[in-house]
Amino acid sequence: MLRQVILAASRSAAARRVVERAPVSRAVVHRFVPGAKVDDAVAASRALLASGRTVTLDHLGEDTHDAGQAADTVKAYLELIGRLADAGLTEGARAEVSVKLSAVGQAFDEKLALAGATAICEAARTVGTTVTLDMEDHTTTESTLGILGELRRDFPTTGAVLQAYLHRTETDCRDLAVAGSRVRLCKGAYKEPASVAFQSKGDVDRSYVRCLEVLMAGEGYPMVASHDPRMIAVAGELATGRAKGSYEYQMLYGIRPAEQERLAGAGETVRVYLPYGDEWYGYFMRRLAERPANVAFFLRALASRS
Ligand code: FDA
Repeated sequence: MLRQVILAASRSAAARRVVERAPVSRAVVHRFVPGAKVDDAVAASRALLASGRTVTLDHLGEDTHDAGQAADTVKAYLELIGRLADAGLTEGARAEVSVKLSAVGQAFDEKLALAGATAICEAARTVGTTVTLDMEDHTTTESTLGILGELRRDFPTTGAVLQAYLHRTETDCRDLAVAGSRVRLCKGAYKEPASVAFQSKGDVDRSYVRCLEVLMAGEGYPMVASHDPRMIAVAGELATGRAKGSYEYQMLYGIRPAEQERLAGAGETVRVYLPYGDEWYGYFMRRLAERPANVAFFLRALASRS
């Protein structure tokens, strides 16, 4: 129930104004978003790589309905990739990028979004790294997988994200569990209707395990994106037949850092999803929706200021 309310607020302009203006928001957001500037992103990436983890960076922003803004997002990614390369962080895809197609024009011009994503993939390849396409709400799934298919013709390392809460995802996993295919499996973070998505945590978790079984048995490169100890344990069991480095674990910046370090210390590849930028509202609200403890943390910070 709380999750549904917060996810509805994540799409509300009025709620956005309230949360963005709350005096404590920035301090709380800082736990999940290390900063607004590319310098902050590079510094946080350097620290994570030094600790034995790898990163995927997200320039925050989504739902663009403006060609100028879409072009600015592409420019921001090109600058980011250049800065990561200058810092020596991109070789072997130790630092890669994650892109939301809605931030580069998908909602109003798919060709523009494809052109923007192509420019980002080109820049990434030049400096030895990769791009993963984030997955947004279910109305974009078909379009995103279509654009992924186009990109993979020229940039076969382009990664996909699949969301276990969608009924269709087990089939999508079968289609994408092929050699060279990088697939990030997450549970899914949007408010979705019962017609397309499992609604209970138990059903989502069972779907996650079924999808993971398909990916781990396939020839692709599974990316296990979850903080859930049960999913991580299942992934470990399913990976017993696979060489380390033929799959990876992924978690969000600021969430279960000790577990990230434990896995990395055990010789696993661990990639941290690192968002940066001013447009933190939607990302932050989805993190609150995932975990009541995060809401309590936010409210406690508010109360201590009042
Ligand atoms: P879930 O939220 O079900 O939590 C299960 C358990 O995990 C909890 O009971 C607790 O034990 C532990 N846990 C979770 N959060 C914790 C915390 N803050 N502190 C301590 N323990 C915690 N979604 C999407 O729709 N599209 C996308 O492109 C992406 N991309 C993406 C990339 C990466 C790298 C990750 C890790 C996640 C995404 N997501 C996403 C978000 C994803 O869909 C999902 O909403 C969150 O990861 C939360 O689901 P979990 O699997 O972590 O478990």
